[in-house]
Amino acid sequence: MDCREILHGSREYEETVALRDVVLRRPLGLIFSSETLKAESSDFHLACYGDERELLACLILTPEDTENIRMRQVAVREDLQGGGIGTTLVQFSEEFAKERGFSCMTMHARESAVPFYERLGYERYGERFEEVTIPHWKMRKELVER
Ligand SMILES: CC(C)(COP(=O)(O)OP(=O)(O)OC[C@H]1O[C@@H](n2cnc3c(N)ncnc32)[C@H](O)[C@@H]1OP(=O)(O)O)[C@@H](O)C(=O)NCCC(=O)NCCS
Repeated sequence: MDCREILHGSREYEETVALRDVVLRRPLGLIFSSETLKAESSDFHLACYGDERELLACLILTPEDTENIRMRQVAVREDLQGGGIGTTLVQFSEEFAKERGFSCMTMHARESAVPFYERLGYERYGERFEEVTIPHWKMRKELVER
């Protein structure tokens, strides 16, 4: 398994949009608008590939300020969920963020995925809220010892 950064607008990026569409959007009856995709051009796009160079999973990191960076759009191929790929990619993204000087990872986690992130050291804070039609929680993890 190989995790790496990919470029917005590249063929690899288009593949991740297709994966996010299947895993995150279509089950909610939503689609990506071209404005949404354009707005993520300055975000970091990370992806995980298998031995045959096939896409397994992807996520986005969006800097909020100099310290905090937001993890978004975490999607693992449906037939491979529960096999450790999400864990590998999230941990890779934490190192990626640390190397770029960020000290805290934040997110709006779907309630169904909260136990997954808790296992990885993320803590819930604030109130439960609704986003993209389903319940979410704010979560965060300090990436460096203070
Ligand atoms: C949530 C998601 C990213 C997790 O990635 P994954 O590769 O399936 O997770 P892993 O196999 O690395 O999981 C690690 C552990 O968390 C557990 N886990 C994974 N998803 C879980 C969930 N939704 N609820 C409870 N436990 C979960 C796994 O069983 C595993 O436990 P184990 O080590 O005892 O076997 C992935 O399942 C996914 O894409 N889900 C659909 C989209 C989604 O919800 N994305 C997150 C939006 S915030």
